[in-house]
Parts: sequence; C-alpha cells; structure tokens
Amino acid sequence: MRIGVLTGGGDCPGLNAVIRSVVRTAATQYGSEVIGFRDGWRGLLEDRSTPLDVAAVDGLLTRGGTTLGSARVAPEKLDAGLDTMRRTLDRHGVDVLVPIGGEGTLTAAHLLSEAGVPVVGVPKTIDNDIDGTDLTFGFDTAVSIATDLIDRLHTTAESHQRVLLVEVMGRHAGWIALHAGLAAGAHLTLVPEEPFDVDDVVRLVTERFARGDSHVIGVVAEGAHPLPGQMAFREGGVDEFGHRRFTGVAQQLGEELERRTGKEVRATVLGHVQRGGTPTSFDRVLATRFGLHAAIAAHEGHRGQMVALRGTDIDLVPLARAVARLKTVPASRLRELHAFTG
Ligand code: F6P
Repeated sequence: MRIGVLTGGGDCPGLNAVIRSVVRTAATQYGSEVIGFRDGWRGLLEDRSTPLDVAAVDGLLTRGGTTLGSARVAPEKLDAGLDTMRRTLDRHGVDVLVPIGGEGTLTAAHLLSEAGVPVVGVPKTIDNDIDGTDLTFGFDTAVSIATDLIDRLHTTAESHQRVLLVEVMGRHAGWIALHAGLAAGAHLTLVPEEPFDVDDVVRLVTERFARGDSHVIGVVAEGAHPLPGQMAFREGGVDEFGHRRFTGVAQQLGEELERRTGKEVRATVLGHVQRGGTPTSFDRVLATRFGLHAAIAAHEGHRGQMVALRGTDIDLVPLARAVARLKTVPASRLRELHAFTG
C-alpha cells in the first residue's frame, strides 16, 4: 500500500511526530510506502511531493513545526481543484490520503472523501476546538508555554501594582485561555464563548486594589469580545477562511481599564510563541498514537474517518461528525472558571 500524507492549516507542535509515526508504522508493520505532499493541499494541487522512509523521519519526534510545510487554501480553490488533486494522487499511486490538520483541513478532507477519495484524517490544533476528539495534540504544549509565561508576569505585575492582560490564542474557542488561566492562577479569564461585561471587569480591578491586593492578571483569548455597546471596540471581521481576525482585544480592553480605573495596565500578546518549539511529552505521545492508529485504520480499510482520543483510547469518528461544529468551552467549564474569578 502507498499512503499520502500532508499537513494543512497553522502549524502545531506534534505534527512531525505524527508524520514519523505514520511512516514507521506503515514501513515496519505493513511494509508499505509513504509519500509526503508539501505545503498542505497546495502540494496536491501543484504536484509537489517527497518520499518519506524511516530514515527521512529520524529525529522528527521532538521537532516543532512540520517538515512537510503547511498552508491554508481557500475553500473555493479546493472545490475547483478536486480533479487536479485526484489526478496527483493517481499519478503517485496513492491508495489512502492521511491529511493532518484542523477544522479547515478536515473540512477539505471530508469534501474529498465525499468525492470518493480514500481518506483517514488526523486532527491537530493548539486551539483544541475539533469536535469528536477529547483533545488535540499541540494544545498541551500551548497551555504549558502560556502558563510558564503568565507565571513570569505575576512578579513584574506585583512589583508595579499593575494590571497585566495576557492575550492568548483561540479565536473561536477559549480552551487555551481556560486552562492557562486556571493553571497560572489568573484573577480574570475572558473567552470568546461568553462576551465580557466591561463594568464587571472594572469592578473586579477596583475591588482587588481596594482590598490591598498587589496586582491583577487577566488572561484574554484573542477572540474574546465585550457585550455590545459597552466600549468603543474595533471588530476585526472575518478573513477569507471564515476565521475571526485579530482585534487586539487585550490592548483595547487595557486602554478602557486604564481610563476607568486610573490603574496602570499593560497588555502582552503571546502570539505564535505558543505554537513554536518542541512538543510536551503528552503531545508527543498523543501525536504518536494518532499516527499509529491512522496508519492501522488506512491498512484495515477504514475511510472517511478521523482518529480521535476518547477517554484514554484512540477511536475512529466519521469526518462528517468532526467538521459539523466547532468544540467550544461548555457552560459547565465556564462555571468552574467563575469560581476563581476575583
Ligand atoms: O488555529 C490555530 C491558530 O494558532 C489560532 O489560535 C490563531 O488565531 C491562528 O492559528 C493564527 O493563525 P496564523 O498563523 O495564520 O496567524
């Protein structure tokens, strides 16, 4: 058998570990070959590929990013390129395609699968917002990085009696903010799922300083936004992929807080540092298990499915189910968070 692999969307720690795992499983367990397509779907559209054998993936387990490169491709281009992609796969004798990616990549994978292309997907995203899997690899790494950096902000905020707002990734879902906020003992965590009340934030800041607390740490997901009409808020709109654009919400909220509380506020945007570098041991293991089970599923004839973590097991779920909705933070988890606000 010959398996095609590609990585699509934003990069994410653990992608290389999946590639390595697919290649090793295919080669050592089944005597199969793997070919990697470069830069996501573009590699299929433009026929750019590289053979992947066990030697080629040596050392990839710990390396961040993706050795295949990644790119986002607009849905219209994919639609129009379906036949081209199918021809590329045929030309290389690919029996099954294993696309590793987030919501956009898996939606495209579903489209291909519906058009008859044999596909087994692997979910990835630091945002942890893919439905059907309990977790995605990359999330644990992003939370660990964010937690470490927020820990460091406590001491500088204390020294200057400041409010420090830390903006973390998560444009549609607040999983990183939720976990990093809890892990780093934030006094306030704002997520896209629940528009924030600026008056409540002002009250929290005023009350903490009034009772003698030294500082305030607020974790703000990049997709968080205020209740309508509460402050002059510059909306970012959506991009060509339907993704919420960056609004600089921490900076905007910081300016409003400074004006209304008279306290010094600083905003820190963690940005792409959350996606860079080596994956945590948790993410290496999850990525390795995803790659292993994707290769097994491909050989066992499963199609139109995605590997997923359910409890402690790796299962298969239909791609159709995984892409039907985004997995956002539920109300029960938000209630837990509220217990640590203030
Ligand atoms: O989806 C993953 C993600 O890291 C988001 O959290 C973030 O909003 C986005 O990608 C950033 O995308 P880009 O790398 O295109 O700036």
